[in-house]
Parts: sequence; structure tokens; C-alpha cells
Amino acid sequence: MSDLTKHDVNEIFTIASRLKMNKYGRQLEDKVLALFFEKPSTRTRLSFEAGIRHLGGSTIYLDAVTTQISRGESLEDTARMFERFVDGLIARVYKHQTLETIAKYARIPVINALSDKEHPCQVLSDLFTIKEKKGRLEDQKIAFIGDGNNVCNSLLLGCGIMGIPISVATPPEFRPSQKIIELLQPVLKDQLVITSEPEQAVRDASVVYTDVFVSMGDEATKEKRLSAFLPKYQVNQKLMSQARNGAIFMHCLPAHRGEEVQAEVIDGSQSVVFDQAENRMHVQKALLLKMFNLISYL
Ligand code: CP
Ligand code: NVA
Repeated sequence: MSDLTKHDVNEIFTIASRLKMNKYGRQLEDKVLALFFEKPSTRTRLSFEAGIRHLGGSTIYLDAVTTQISRGESLEDTARMFERFVDGLIARVYKHQTLETIAKYARIPVINALSDKEHPCQVLSDLFTIKEKKGRLEDQKIAFIGDGNNVCNSLLLGCGIMGIPISVATPPEFRPSQKIIELLQPVLKDQLVITSEPEQAVRDASVVYTDVFVSMGDEATKEKRLSAFLPKYQVNQKLMSQARNGAIFMHCLPAHRGEEVQAEVIDGSQSVVFDQAENRMHVQKALLLKMFNLISYL
């Protein structure tokens, strides 16, 4: 997320809005992108593959099981192969370090499609959704409730870049990255609140955001996590009613109704989760056009 400036983000949003109104051509006609996913995905794979095809490009989906990585080929050599055949790589990995190694050895653009530390494409789309639903990013306040995970880390960085107040409520042992908190404190000052109290976090929030309590890769600590998070960190109607009037509910999906969120909230009138998912595609298409310097052709 921190590779982007406020200017970049605003530019991506402008292109994404135009793409959403079907103003796109076949700018990626001569481009082939590989998707290398170590973990499952529904939205990220669908939104990238569909979006790239709309723009005339092609995709090759690879995973860690059916590539030679499963038989011990090094990540460095695998990265060198990506560079020889495709124009860009979209990777979903367990360890963030894997992305950094790929980016070091493959001299092509590498997009983070989720790692243990961050989920920047998600958050870029989420900020676009907030702007779309609320008309502007100014005067918003985001409350993130639950696990200080990859989505939370990217959301913090996104708020830092765009200057949006954010309050995060997690159990003390599941706070977001300390490094990111320290990076943001001088930027957001008292508009950054890290607390253990969901009710404090949602006060005056125009957006209430949550994510799963057990992320991909965290399965071994499932029992410990559920007992730390439930019932205090579940987003329910009572918590929503303590946010600002007209607040929206967001979730990156997949959701576990009855765990991080009550069904009546995610399926209720304040929820924007399915528009949020659709916007992944529009925003990622804009990101690709910007990344390949194809904006002037729009
Ligand atoms: N939100 C998100 O990244 O969903 P997937 O895991 O289905 O790609
Ligand atoms: N935090 C979740 C996000 C899934 C899109 C995970 O990493 O599993």
C-alpha cells in the first residue's frame, strides 16, 4: 500500500470510475499476466481475471501445488521464469517475504493479491467504495473491529495516505503491526486510535469494517482466537447503532455469519459488502492501466 501516494490513489479512482461506466477499450491487448496463488481465492481471482479479459489481456493461473515449486524448485528460479514469459505477476502468498523475493528476481511488475501482512488491492477498492457511497473521503471516520490482520494493516496505511481518521478495536494480543502503527502516529496523530473497546472505536464512525477472526494460515490458533474475539468483537446491530447515523458496514469477504458479524448486519440495509466486492474489479483494472502507463490511451 505504501508504494502509492495520495495523487496515485486519486488517479486510480478517477480511472476506476470511468471504467465502471464502461469507458474502456482493449488497452491490455498485448499483455499476459500470471496469477500465482498459494492460497484459495474467489473474489481476487475472479476480479483480476475478468477485468484483464475486459481490457483485452490474457491470464495464466498457477498455484504452488501444480508448479515445480511443489517439488523443490527455488522461488528465485521460479521468479526468473515469470519474467521470461509474462508482462506482470499477481501473487497471493503465505509469507510477505515470498512477494519480496519474487519482486527482487522477476524484473516485471508484481502486485500483492494478499500476504500475511497486507491486502492492498482490497483496501484500495474499499476506499473507492467509501468515496462512492459517501460522495467524499473527507469527513469520514473508519472503525475497524476484530483482528489486526492483513486487511487492517493495509486499511491503516490507506488511511494514512488519504488522511482519514481510523480507530481500531482488537484484543490486546491481536493488534495490527506495531511498525505500521508507529509509521502512522506522526501522520494521523490523534485521528489514529488503537483500543480494546469496540464501543469506543465506533463512536462517530461513518464506516464500520470487520474481517474474519481466523485468516488463511491462522487455522492452528482457531480456538484461541475465537475465545479472544467472541462475543466482544462481533459486529452486531447494537454496535452499529452506536456509530454515526447512516454509517455503512464493510467486510472484505468471505464472511462467517455468527462469528465476526451477525447475519442481520451483513444482510441488512447498512451493508455495502457486495458493491465493495464488485469494485475490486474496477479499481484493479485502473491499477493495471496505471501500472503499465496506459492511462493516456483512455
Ligand atoms: N476479499 C478477498 O480477497 O476475497 P478472496 O479471498 O475470495 O479473493
Ligand atoms: N484476512 C483474510 C482476508 C481474506 C480475503 C485472510 O487473510 O484470510
